[in-house]
This record gives sequence, structure tokens and C-alpha cells, in this order.
Amino acid sequence: MIAGVLKETSPGERRVAVVPSAFPLLAKAGVEVVIESGAGAAAGFPDGAFKDKGARIASSRSEVLEAARVLLQVRPRAGAAGAPSGGLEGMGRDHVLVGLLDPLGDPAGIQTVAARGITAFALELIPRITRAQAMDVLSSSATITGYKAVLLAASALPQMFPMLMTAGGTLAPARVFVIGAGVAGLQAIATAKRLGAVVQAYDVRPAVKEQVESLGAKFVELPLEAADAQDKGGYARAMDESFYRRQRETMLKVVAGSEVVITTAAVPGKKAPILLTSEMVDAMPPGAVVVDVAAEQGGNCELTRPGETVTRGAVSILGPVNLPSTVPQHASQLYCRNMATFLALIVAGGELKIDLADEIVRETLVTRDGEVVHPRVREALAR
Ligand code: NAI
Repeated sequence: MIAGVLKETSPGERRVAVVPSAFPLLAKAGVEVVIESGAGAAAGFPDGAFKDKGARIASSRSEVLEAARVLLQVRPRAGAAGAPSGGLEGMGRDHVLVGLLDPLGDPAGIQTVAARGITAFALELIPRITRAQAMDVLSSSATITGYKAVLLAASALPQMFPMLMTAGGTLAPARVFVIGAGVAGLQAIATAKRLGAVVQAYDVRPAVKEQVESLGAKFVELPLEAADAQDKGGYARAMDESFYRRQRETMLKVVAGSEVVITTAAVPGKKAPILLTSEMVDAMPPGAVVVDVAAEQGGNCELTRPGETVTRGAVSILGPVNLPSTVPQHASQLYCRNMATFLALIVAGGELKIDLADEIVRETLVTRDGEVVHPRVREALAR
């Protein structure tokens, strides 16, 4: 089985789908790799590092597409700006594509994958079951996102994070409030704690309280009825607007007392809830920073603009997108490990074997034989 790794075409994407250290794992599954020259450069993996591990370096995209049956990518769908086929150029019936395909955010994009006859697996859909933990690309990227969000906040803040007692006087620690304590939020808490901030956090899922406290942060108790806020998959359910209004009202005091607010609240397949209004931002101390990690899902702050920094009074609101790509070496390493583990499910003894009896395979397969085959993606298309 030859797996092809293409240079990412999505604007600003610096990750690469395969890193040299994963070659033993791939070889075990009977997978050989042909990689487009320069594909790993932006992530800190030059061609030579792949060559040393036995990869074949292809001088062009078409050479990879010709040689490989399975194509491994990070974000194949977004494509270069203005590219009519959105990064799928040259892919077709003979190809099995594995990558992040944003199946629920952009179901129409999945239709264009199907129209080309590509068999595609969207790694975002890996079920959150114990067996799939090592393949969980969303957890890997959320971990990096939470970490980097805190670094962005720390460098934008006109203060330091730790409390310092120096000969020049005492500096008070930064007060950080993390809204949404899933994978990204918990990593944000841990990172802010390591930098010495005083950290508080809130999540609608009451089960999270213990995890927040185990990281040394304070869980903010709000007088809200959130007992049914968690679905059976462990995700947050969408609440109604009156719940979110009450949530904003009750969080105001904590927001007003924080120099940094990091928002990560998301509901799968839905627009992110608005949890920070302009008035709440106005109540924050001068110089305060909001980092809205939910920017790509519409943002938790009503002032957020994805990919931009907005200034409101003396407060900065950052809406970063694709933070994993800003830590490309480690992000690629984790992504590759997740993907290689997944690959072992569909390749056995060097042969492709798509076994739909396997829940993980079934749940990630989005297109086959020219059709969108995933029920949730089909539902999203019908809406
Ligand atoms: P996510 O990215 O979908 O959402 C982030 C966080 O925002 C969640 O904790 C969610 O409860 C919270 N949120 C939603 N609405 C909110 C609101 N109005 N106010 C405050 N917070 C709000 O979630 P993520 O990080 O992907 O994790 C969700 C769940 O999946 C967790 O239970 C986690 O433990 C579980 N999980 C399970 C894995 C496995 O079993 N393999 C792997 C990773 C996560």
C-alpha cells in the first residue's frame, strides 16, 4: 500500500499529515510513503528527514497522486483561495482520502468530494470511545489550542501573569477566567496556572467541576439549572436563549473581575453560544484581553471577528483561527500519530480493507462510490 502525502494547500496551514518518526508505525501496517517535496518544511520537517526514514520524495503533486492509493492530509478541503476544486485537484475514484474535512461545518464541501468519486474519511467524526482515544484528532488540536490561547493572552496583556514580590514592589497575579472546560479549556487552565495566574473556570457540564479543581483552578458556581446539559456522548447540549441570557447575567461579576477571559464553549454541529456581550467586555479592567477560541464556530463573544483582533475601549478581543497550525511541529506529530493509528484500521497487510462493521470506520466514512454516505452529513445537507 502506498500512501501519499501532499503539500497542504489551505491558506496559512503549516502542518503536515505525516512526520518522520511515525514511519515504523506505518511500516507495521504495510504502508509505504511517497511525499511531495517540501510538504513538511513549514512544520520543521525537511525532505531529508523523510528520506532518511525511507520515504520517496516526489517532485510534484501529480507524481504523488499517480503513485498513491491512500492520500493523507491535514486539511485537504479548504484549498487555496480561488482554487475551483478547493484543494481536491487531481483526486478521483482511485483515491482514498483521510483528513480533516469539516463534514458538519461544510457539508456542501463533502458533496464536492463525493462528486469526484473519492472515498473519504473525515477524522473529526472519530467517535469518542475508549478504543478511539489514540485517534482523537479533535482532542489533539484542542490541547494545542488551549495552550496557545493562553500564550496569546499573556503576550497581549500589559501585565505579567505571576504574582511577583520584588525589590521594586509587588505585582498582583493576573486573574484568568476560562469559559468552557473541555479539552481546550482544561489545557488553558493548566497553562495559565503554570504561568502563575489565578484561574477560575465555568462549564455547563457539572461533571467538569472536579477536573477544573484538580488543576488548581476554582470552579465558578452559577445559579443555573444545568443538570441536563450533557448528552450521552459527553458533549454539551445546546441550551435555549433564556439559559444563555441567565448565564451571561450571572457570569458578569467574574468577567468584570478578570484581566483575561478565554472562551472555548462549543456545541458540536451548532454555532457557538454568545456568552460575552459588548456590555460585559466594557465591564472588564482596562488592558484586559479576551481570547475567543470559538471564533471559527462564530465566537463566544459578540465582538469577535475570526482571524482578527478587535479593540473595544481598552479591551482587546482576539479571534484566532487554526491555532494548531501555529505550533506546527507538535501539532503535526500528534495529528500523524492519531491518523496512523486510524490507518491501521483500514489497511491490513498492505491491503485496503474497509470494514463497516467497525464503528470507527463506519462513523468516519463520509463519501463512497460518488455518494455522501454518512447519515449526519446527509441530514446536514438536507437542512
Ligand atoms: P467542545 O469543544 O465541543 O466544547 C468545549 C466545552 O464547552 C465543553 O466542555 C462544553 O461543555 C462547553 N460548553 C458548551 N456550552 C457552554 C456554555 N454555554 N457555557 C460554558 N461552557 C460550555 O468539547 P470537547 O473539548 O471536545 O470535549 C467534550 C467532551 O468530550 C468532554 O466530556 C470530554 O471529556 C469528552 N472527551 C472524550 C474523549 C474520549 O472519550 N475519547 C476524548 C476527548 C474528549
